[in-house]
Amino acid sequence: MNAAQSGAPALEHYWMPFTDNRRFKRAPKMIASAKDMYYTTEDGKQVLDGLATLWCVNAGHCRPRIVEAIRKQAGELDYASSFSLGHRLPFQVAARVAELTPPRLDHVFFTNSGSEAADTALKIALAYHRLKGEPTRTRFIGREKGYHGVNLAGISVGGVPLNRKAYAGMLLPGVDHLRHTQDLKTRAFVRGCAESGAELADELEERIIPLHGAENIAAVIVEPVSGAGGVLVPPQGYLKRLREITRRHGILLILDEVITGFGRLGTPFAAQYFEVEPDLMMFAKAITSGTVPLGGVIASDAIYETFMNTQSAGVEFFHGYTYSGHPLACAAAMGALDTYAEEKLLTRANGALAQAFEDGIHAFQGAPHVVDCRNLGLIGAIELEPRPGAPGARGFEVFEKCWEKGVYVRPIGDNIGFCPPLIVEPKHFDQMFGAVAEVLKTVG
Ligand SMILES: Cc1ncc(COP(=O)(O)O)c(C=O)c1O
Repeated sequence: MNAAQSGAPALEHYWMPFTDNRRFKRAPKMIASAKDMYYTTEDGKQVLDGLATLWCVNAGHCRPRIVEAIRKQAGELDYASSFSLGHRLPFQVAARVAELTPPRLDHVFFTNSGSEAADTALKIALAYHRLKGEPTRTRFIGREKGYHGVNLAGISVGGVPLNRKAYAGMLLPGVDHLRHTQDLKTRAFVRGCAESGAELADELEERIIPLHGAENIAAVIVEPVSGAGGVLVPPQGYLKRLREITRRHGILLILDEVITGFGRLGTPFAAQYFEVEPDLMMFAKAITSGTVPLGGVIASDAIYETFMNTQSAGVEFFHGYTYSGHPLACAAAMGALDTYAEEKLLTRANGALAQAFEDGIHAFQGAPHVVDCRNLGLIGAIELEPRPGAPGARGFEVFEKCWEKGVYVRPIGDNIGFCPPLIVEPKHFDQMFGAVAEVLKTVG
């Protein structure tokens, strides 16, 4: 029987993202359905979702309120544009998001993804300075190992070498990068935020500002906890120090909260966890608990009012996506926000649960190949020593063997990332960390 007769699709037509397509298509891992903490594969195996799939399914899978909201909306208003037309949902979602943000961050611009949120935030920063009469502020400062999606602007300020390599010379000009905050020699196996390292933020004032001139810098963009760079937790006081320096020099601070937004650290956003008020915040992923693509940028009152009040009339910002504020995505967001509120999920990554997660991760200290363990709230990673000459191979082997054991954890090079849905229970930690521990004994 060929593939078409068995009902299985041909595999060659779908060019899969961030995937070794040839390897996958030789041995596909096909998921058929999902519920709460688990996937069911096509061959009927239950797999624990240890990464909220891609750091996004914070409410767990196929949650009734979200499913119902999407179903209902699809039959009522399938699509409406937000270009000079309106429908209630994006206004409602924006108001709900603004309730969850620090006080002066009140205005939401919708995108469909985190990558688009990065482009949008950077464009808002450029246009804002121009409106304020500071058009020379065009440079951006990102950080090594930073991940801000895959569009050209995002990879320009991002710092994941493999994502940038093929586009060298074609990235945004005028970008510099802060050093990342990881140091395996002095800060390995730290629980939560390290006590030392805040001074890494001083590089902005000591090297970057003198080099480029503050009057030429539009914004600094960082993830509060960097995710796709390997789950790097900032040292205590580091983000506050970045905030102080940027404010002193009139530079905007953009926090990319695409992973940390919606409860990952036990507060609605990381901005509250670290007590830092940025000028722009990006979100995506968990706003709909991953169900329908939706992202956005939250702008401070000062930025929004500059756009609204310094131009006499007409379109204030020449930017937007066909699907900005899409009804299905906004309905899903309402369902997700209701679920988060009813189940108090945005403050769940705290207390005894976060402690059990931390203990589970740090129990890997001394396990074969493990050179670091990191955690904050309900996000963490263990880092493995790379196999000589084959970086990432050991991490990928752990991922594949864990999948065989019914646990999905994500390899980020030789880091193994953990970021479970916020409905997780301690028994799931036992299953997840137990599988990884067994697998580590078997990888070469
Ligand atoms: C911090 C951060 N920013 C941006 C993005 C890009 O989001 P998307 O894949 O929705 O474009 C991601 C995705 O993982 C992310 O982790």
